[in-house]
Amino acid sequence: MLSLVILGVLVSVVHAKFYPTYPNIETCVGLPVQYSCENTTVVTDSCCNVVRGGLVLQAQYWNTYTGLELQAQLFPKNSWSIHGIVPLNCDGTSIGQYCDPGRQYDPKPLPSTLPNGTVINPYKGPSVRTFIQEFGRSDLLDYMDTFWINQGAPNEDLWAHEYSIHATCTSAFDVACYDPGYKKHQEVVNFFETAVKVYQMYPTYDILAASGIVPSNKTTYTRAQITNAIYSQTGADPWLGCLDNGTVWKEIRYFHHVLGTEQFGHFKPLDSIISSTCAETGIWYYERTPTSEKAVSD
Ligand SMILES: *[C@@H]1O[C@H](CO)[C@@H](O)[C@H](O)[C@H]1NC(C)=O
Ligand SMILES: *[C@@H]1O[C@H](CO)[C@@H](O)[C@H](O)[C@H]1NC(C)=O
Ligand SMILES: *[C@@H]1O[C@H](CO)[C@@H](O)[C@H](O)[C@H]1NC(C)=O
Repeated sequence: MLSLVILGVLVSVVHAKFYPTYPNIETCVGLPVQYSCENTTVVTDSCCNVVRGGLVLQAQYWNTYTGLELQAQLFPKNSWSIHGIVPLNCDGTSIGQYCDPGRQYDPKPLPSTLPNGTVINPYKGPSVRTFIQEFGRSDLLDYMDTFWINQGAPNEDLWAHEYSIHATCTSAFDVACYDPGYKKHQEVVNFFETAVKVYQMYPTYDILAASGIVPSNKTTYTRAQITNAIYSQTGADPWLGCLDNGTVWKEIRYFHHVLGTEQFGHFKPLDSIISSTCAETGIWYYERTPTSEKAVSD
């Protein structure tokens, strides 16, 4: 009998109840449908359209090592990794950072002090990893641990950072949008799901490889070569981010306006409106350290 009870406890831990994470869009039916930043009338329902942060960027990283290889933190082979989704004002300016102290889950806030002097305190509670588990989303967690990889710190620190610094400032993940029946942390898990969904629109590694642009420690590429390859599949110029005086390629960002909600709506690719930090020529797209990657099935 006791062993049955223990078994029951174990099973409930392994198979936590699956809770839906989507917002309530019932109230959106019948409202005008417009792309964010392209509306010609004032949009009032911020749960049905992206009102704050209507220019939405999908950002991906290319790093050659994680720094925590010994703890099995590895990049997905033949795949860029997720940075996040970054909401900006329509003109490309910042919508702010860490906008809700009550939803601050970042254990290492960066910046730790905002331009207006507000201090962001490090979060000390249970990790956002446990939020995902509470919703029974081991599928999402496995995916994030494969494709949303941090550098020099646990993956969940990056996930928490992305949510707390960005998602709390846009209208798309407001807690009120999940009523009635809001379950705490629902919008956090939903933000992660949405970030994964938009990432899956852009298999950057494969798009580049199909144009002969593969990581190399022997050959450099030009900015036009990279941009043209991406453009041929998206119809839009991405933003490219480089370090070391524009020579080492580290990041790509895809720009969008969103029709309806970020969770259900359509992401329309747009040209980047921010200057690339990569040089015109001589860009290194380095091979990863072989021991920093693992083969993945997806
Ligand atoms: C579009 O909607 C936003 C958010 O409600 C509003 O600030 C802006 O003025 C609207 N644009 C126009 C042209 O009405
Ligand atoms: C950075 O790049 C610019 C333009 O390519 C060049 O003029 C400058 O000397 C470089 N600076 C360094 C520190 O390498
Ligand atoms: C390629 O160069 C990068 C940057 O120096 C390095 O981190 C990486 O280990 C190298 N990869 C291979 C396969 O040599």
